[in-house]
Amino acid sequence: MQQTPEKLEIIRPDDFHVHFRDSSMLAAVVPETARHFARAIVMPNLVPPVVSVAQALDYRQRIVSHCDEGFEPLMTLYLTETTTVDELQKAADVDEIKAVKLYPAGATTNSASGVTDVKRVMPLLESMARSGLTLCVHGEVTDPDVDIFDREAVFIDRILEPVRRELPELRIVMEHITTSDGVDFVRSGSANLAATVTPHHLILNRNDLLVGGIRPHYYCLPIVKREKHRVALRKAVTSGDCRFFLGTDSAPHTTETKEAACGCAGVFNASNTMACLAQVFEEEGALQNLEAFCSLNGADFYRLPHNTERLVLQKATKPVSFPSTLAVAGDSEQTVTVFDPGMDIYWTVVDHT
Ligand code: NCD
Ligand code: ZN
Repeated sequence: MQQTPEKLEIIRPDDFHVHFRDSSMLAAVVPETARHFARAIVMPNLVPPVVSVAQALDYRQRIVSHCDEGFEPLMTLYLTETTTVDELQKAADVDEIKAVKLYPAGATTNSASGVTDVKRVMPLLESMARSGLTLCVHGEVTDPDVDIFDREAVFIDRILEPVRRELPELRIVMEHITTSDGVDFVRSGSANLAATVTPHHLILNRNDLLVGGIRPHYYCLPIVKREKHRVALRKAVTSGDCRFFLGTDSAPHTTETKEAACGCAGVFNASNTMACLAQVFEEEGALQNLEAFCSLNGADFYRLPHNTERLVLQKATKPVSFPSTLAVAGDSEQTVTVFDPGMDIYWTVVDHT
């Protein structure tokens, strides 16, 4: 990585957790990710979910029709209680598929087909431990009696720690961690355990979501937590520790469905993630570790080669602004609201080769 006060050049980054959706939304958001990222782990929570290798490969075709050859989608399968060991073996043998996603049933957007009891999928997880296929986990319990702010910590105790102990060979990514409990859990694990972190959880705490009026565009799952958790996440990602890497969890919903009496969960940040992260890492005095977090650690965990292209960020003397919305292709009425970090950002991506 080369660094001067105004310019920062890093290996082109990857996004290890993104939602692209389908149809007109897919067409609108794929170019936003492909502009800055070389590869992305694409979440399978479509309606209906991507449960088979054939569906994942079809979906991949639809994605690549909206970007040029420089961008590579890395596909995932949605784990259900009826998934078969055979299908997982097939997935492990297909180069385009890199992971399987476990959603606890009811935990988040389009998770109804998820897992109601992890015991029911243990034989499947055992087969993944053998084949080396990575398990991506949405780490929240769904029990109505567990407070929404405690759901990640309780999931670690009740589900993830026992699975890790029973299947130490299973490669697990705890997706979008939001708490110091998540950080500590990953730090205490082996090289088979890692976590993704989103830009918005490095920037927002729950006051930003709720004080002075509810901000629907800051509502996502897992929900943003107390300040001490945001601080712990920042420390983890800026430390250079190879078990933490970028997963934006860019999750587009139309502005209309976010600004509603029962608004959808998800932050759309694909357009300005790299600028926001440069700002965060600069604030933490850790610009030298931005490349590890965005471009090296995730690739190493997934055993992928490092990208050869580069990304150049430039620091302006005044705060920069970003478009606040993205039009949804083919429908001039619908927009997606772009993440507003709520703080001055001085960085922009100026070049990628
Ligand atoms: C995601 C979505 O909209 O698909 N929403 C979110 O708040 N993060 C699902 C998810 O990753 O939980
Ligand atoms: Zn997600």
